[in-house]
Amino acid sequence: MEILKIEHLSKIYGTGESAVKALDDISFSVQKGEFVAIIGPSGSGKSTLLHLLGGVDRPTNGKVFVENTDIYALDETRLAIFRRRQIGLIYQFFNLIPTLTVKENLTLPLLLDNQQEDKKQFDALVKTLNLEHRLNHLPNQLSGGQQQRVSIGRAIISNPAIMLADEPTGNLDSKNSSEIVDLLNMLNKTYHQTLIIITHDERIALQADRIISIVDGKIAKDEVIRQ
Ligand SMILES: Nc1ncnc2c1ncn2[C@@H]1O[C@H](COP(=O)(O)OP(=O)(O)OP(=O)(O)O)[C@@H](O)[C@H]1O
Ligand SMILES: [Mg+2]
Repeated sequence: MEILKIEHLSKIYGTGESAVKALDDISFSVQKGEFVAIIGPSGSGKSTLLHLLGGVDRPTNGKVFVENTDIYALDETRLAIFRRRQIGLIYQFFNLIPTLTVKENLTLPLLLDNQQEDKKQFDALVKTLNLEHRLNHLPNQLSGGQQQRVSIGRAIISNPAIMLADEPTGNLDSKNSSEIVDLLNMLNKTYHQTLIIITHDERIALQADRIISIVDGKIAKDEVIRQ
């Protein structure tokens, strides 16, 4: 099943002399359960693309369909709800809320959506993340790897259609990076979570089903590594 389709996506930042064409007519689609790595040089448009897939920014041209919904046809309120329910975003610098505990950070998306966590599911998630003994800690009391596991948990707790990650291991040492790669891989293989990950980390690219290279805002290569 096609979970994501983008058509002729372009993004121009600024106007006139200072205009930057960050994305130039990109089209592709992603199947449910696919694990896609996005690679490319600095400034090639990878983060811009990820933000457009996640409904974080608006394209200059083109369309993004998630589960057949044309997301930029939604008004701001609906787009915000769509983002909260259907997109799990993970960043290089974790972006946790420093004054909230691990448990509060994890359940924040549900709280914002007026939902209660299912205790059994929550306990299972915490166990998977190996955070059982850290639930009442604040983010600055955790290691980098633990913080990233919280941000992955927060991204997945509302069971999103797609998880998007921008350099999720970019700020971690080798051992913590491996744990994050294993965790993401497990979410993909066991739960068929669709993953789109920007990375310079070869370990991530090697786990992916498909590698898309972006150069100068265009798709330079789109390779299926495994079916
Ligand atoms: N808010 C913005 N305003 C103006 N130009 C921007 C903005 N954000 C990004 N750009 C420009 O758009 C281009 C693509 O940027 P983008 O952040 O998508 O690159 P990237 O591939 O993620 O790079 P990196 O690997 O360094 O993170 C760059 O030339 C960048 O300078
Ligand atoms: Mg980037």
